[in-house]
Amino acid sequence: MPRFSRFGYPILLSALGAWSLLLVSCMVVGERALVIPPQIPGATLVGSDSCTKCHSGITHRFHDATHAHLSQTLESGKVQNISCESCHGPASQHVKAGTRDTIINPKNNPESCLRCHVNNRAEFTLPHTHQVLNGKISCNDCHNPHQGAANSGDAGARSLATAANQTCAKCHPAQSGHYIFPHEAMRDGCVSCHSPHGSVNDKMLKARNTSLCYQCHFQNQPSGTSIIHGGVDHSNNVIRGTCWSAGCHEAVHGSNVNSSLRF
Ligand code: HEC
Ligand code: HEC
Ligand code: HEC
Ligand code: HEC
Ligand code: HEC
Ligand code: HEC
Ligand code: HEC
Repeated sequence: MPRFSRFGYPILLSALGAWSLLLVSCMVVGERALVIPPQIPGATLVGSDSCTKCHSGITHRFHDATHAHLSQTLESGKVQNISCESCHGPASQHVKAGTRDTIINPKNNPESCLRCHVNNRAEFTLPHTHQVLNGKISCNDCHNPHQGAANSGDAGARSLATAANQTCAKCHPAQSGHYIFPHEAMRDGCVSCHSPHGSVNDKMLKARNTSLCYQCHFQNQPSGTSIIHGGVDHSNNVIRGTCWSAGCHEAVHGSNVNSSLRF
């Protein structure tokens, strides 16, 4: 049974510069960015302060979270922080009952994230994607909802692009492993080659051909026709397939035996 309905309270978000960009993609009425939070039948918003009593572990470290500044203006003119409920739904019934069935947990349903992040929805419907829409993997397997930058991964780094190696390693230890000859590309993060939300390419690769590698390994054609990489003439190699599928650099993440990532 879906607990969300399409229509509900329009919420006026605090006009912080950084927020407005994304909000344009949510809904814009006049100059104001509006968002429709998830709905729980019969429940109303009570504000984030009322969560502290029972969830102090979360509220104490929430202040620096990306999503900590969502608010609504009450009829009295008072501004009320409703950050918690913008993801979890209005909590008037929950704060009385303290039961799981009176509140939404986005872990079990990515819809409460995607109703604001509408631009990201399509990525998860691409042919190669993490199985987020069917609930096998959650947004929060890779994103922090309650502390620090939502994009920082578990490592608490500023950018998931670099912290991702650790986030991804939880589930993909083989590719994230400590190699004797690591591919230095890994320092820029898994996202230099993969689009973890989804891609038209197999293995969620950012490109299906050698242009994936040419992002960093520039083509060098000194004599006009030959293709040189690392001082080696590759002219006859690159026509055989991609750099990793042509029987050459198959250990693209790193190798324990070969510094040229061959095995
Ligand atoms: C009176 C205490 C109380 C208050 C106030 C309270 N909660 Fe809870 N909440 C609980 C209890 C108890 C549970 C765990 C229920 C269980 O384990 O069955 C819970 C569980 C949750 C869950 C997990 C639900 C799930 O399905 O996993 C979420 C999310 C949640 N609360 C959010 C909130 C938010 C947001 C607020 C503030 C708007 C809030 N709570 C205020 C007592 C409270
Ligand atoms: C960006 C959306 C978002 C915001 C904002 C948010 N949460 Fe959550 N919350 C989540 C997600 C996703 C999960 C599931 C992840 C998990 O279990 O760690 C969750 C889980 C929870 C749980 C259940 C934790 C457990 O161990 O079962 C509670 C309680 C909770 N949130 C309370 C809050 C409170 C209180 C606030 C505000 C201070 C808040 N949340 C703000 C997304 C959010
Ligand atoms: C009420 C609307 C709303 C909901 C619900 C919401 N977000 Fe956000 N989210 C925002 C806004 C606004 C920003 C800030 C955008 C900016 O700074 O440009 C943001 C930022 C983010 C960022 C950082 C983007 C960046 O470029 O740094 C991530 C990641 C993110 N949200 C993930 C989530 C996840 C995962 C959930 C569900 C657990 C969620 N959001 C739920 C509104 C929302
Ligand atoms: C498998 C891991 C993974 C999952 C699952 C995941 N993300 Fe992401 N997401 C990332 C990574 C990694 C980045 C950073 C990409 C970069 O830096 O190039 C990112 C970036 C983002 C951003 C900011 C950049 C952008 O594309 O707008 C938002 C917003 C976001 N994710 C929302 C979500 C939401 C909502 C969900 C669930 C529906 C989700 N993500 C599920 C890994 C994931
Ligand atoms: C919570 C566990 C989890 C996390 C975290 C996670 N993944 Fe995955 N990943 C999976 C699962 C499960 C699959 C298999 C998907 C399927 O086929 O259903 C997968 C598939 C993949 C594939 C495609 C494999 C194939 O055979 O097509 C790539 C590439 C990938 N993940 C990269 C990443 C990257 C990069 C990150 C970090 C941003 C990441 N994953 C984070 C669980 C995870
Ligand atoms: C230099 C580019 C590059 C980087 C960086 C990279 N990958 Fe890959 N990855 C690839 C290519 C290319 C393939 C496809 C290999 C193939 O088809 O044999 C692949 C395949 C995968 C697969 C599927 C493996 C399989 O056997 O099906 C997973 C999972 C994966 N990568 C995870 C990661 C993770 C996690 C990271 C970061 C720790 C990462 N990758 C960093 C290029 C890269
Ligand atoms: C994000 C940047 C980046 C991407 C993308 C990238 N590489 Fe690399 N790669 C590096 C860096 C940096 C080095 C180490 C310096 C050097 O040798 O050029 C390196 C080294 C290598 C080496 C070892 C060279 C040697 O013998 O010492 C091979 C082989 C290689 N890369 C193949 C690939 C292949 C194949 C792809 C595409 C799947 C790829 N690289 C994509 C950055 C990248």
